[in-house]
Amino acid sequence: MLLPASVAIGLLCLCHAGGAWGFARLLDDVELRSAFSVARTNSMEGGPKMTVTFDAVYVNIGGDFDPKAGLFRCRITGAYYFSFTVGKFPHKDLSVMLMKNRNEVQAIVYEENAGEERKVQSQSVMLQLEFGDTVWLRLHGDPRYALYSNTGHYTTFNGYLVYPDTYGFQTHHHQHHPASNSQQPRQDNTPQLNSNQDTEHVRSGTRDTLVAEEEKELQHRDEEEDEDDEEDDQRSAFSVGRTQSIVGVNQVGMPQHQPVGFDTAFVNIGEDFNVTEGVFTCRVPGAYYFSFNVGKLPQKTLSVKLMKNHLEVQAMIYDDSQGEKALQSQSLMLSLKTGDTIWLYSHQKDGFGAYSNHAKYITFTGFLVYQDFPNTTTSSSSQSHAEKKP
Ligand SMILES: *[C@@H]1O[C@H](CO)[C@@H](O)[C@H](O)[C@H]1NC(C)=O
Ligand SMILES: *[C@@H]1O[C@H](CO)[C@@H](O)[C@H](O)[C@H]1NC(C)=O
Repeated sequence: MLLPASVAIGLLCLCHAGGAWGFARLLDDVELRSAFSVARTNSMEGGPKMTVTFDAVYVNIGGDFDPKAGLFRCRITGAYYFSFTVGKFPHKDLSVMLMKNRNEVQAIVYEENAGEERKVQSQSVMLQLEFGDTVWLRLHGDPRYALYSNTGHYTTFNGYLVYPDTYGFQTHHHQHHPASNSQQPRQDNTPQLNSNQDTEHVRSGTRDTLVAEEEKELQHRDEEEDEDDEEDDQRSAFSVGRTQSIVGVNQVGMPQHQPVGFDTAFVNIGEDFNVTEGVFTCRVPGAYYFSFNVGKLPQKTLSVKLMKNHLEVQAMIYDDSQGEKALQSQSLMLSLKTGDTIWLYSHQKDGFGAYSNHAKYITFTGFLVYQDFPNTTTSSSSQSHAEKKP
């Protein structure tokens, strides 16, 4: 009884750090960190046991990844970024899917090329996970498929928590805090949650009234959360997939430079990405990370560009090999201002195209890494800014 109550109070007190800075600090809190990065030092052939396991662990913050089982298990509800790279075994095809729970396919790495060469293929998406959700890699069960790795670590798997779902909780709490509360709010500059402070806090206060107050506020917050999030949420993230190929044609009278559209949204925090249109519009200025992965159509040249605003090319994927189906990947960070648009463009001419199917070869992900510094004292949201000051 006592422990959960004191943890709840501790978390509520973190709120007084306020706004985006409170969020940044919360990420430093051990309780809200989750990240793994693992590698595999040997090859694996398709068979009944399809889960890809790992034997080299570089990072496992929070211990949420079980390398022997090959399983990431969500402990903190929120949005996670995952990326993986797998080696292609000589004379074998490659098919590795990112799975959620038992059998929900999220995205694929594929190379249909029984050639001799070894190479790597990569994929990345963001997923919204609930407590207990699992994420893992599945190698196709047919022995015609295999993945390659050795002590050079061709095969790697990474994931980390980008936005815990507690965000709304702490940004809104301070606004609903009753001014006449007898409680002593914690100093803004001490957001650390540790057992000593919790115990001290519980002892110094009138615990029962305190808990009752906080519970009332929690309910209050739940009721208002939806409206408040629209205004205050400084998070921005999208991750989308496309289940259909794109085939370029010489069009006459058709609109030029149409963005690549998508049909699956893994994550769309802030709703800044228009999925059908395929366009991200920046709401929160800052530095964003983008990654995209695209399948190659046999006999077609792959040319997909990451565009900013009208026609400013930021980065591209290109493959004019004669090969069969395969994947190409690209990623970068961009500094964006409010209203900037980001989209993908696949060259709209005969002989060009991109491959996908229900397993989602084509994916596009972007999220805010660092918000630009708020422009000092006077601004439309001056009230919350003032509260941030210690
Ligand atoms: C997405 O864009 C299309 C085309 O511009 C528009 O009709 C639609 O309303 C937009 N959807 C959202 C959710 O804004
Ligand atoms: C606030 O923003 C404006 C326009 O972006 C800029 O010119 C100005 O220097 C900024 N003020 C401060 C104090 O940074």
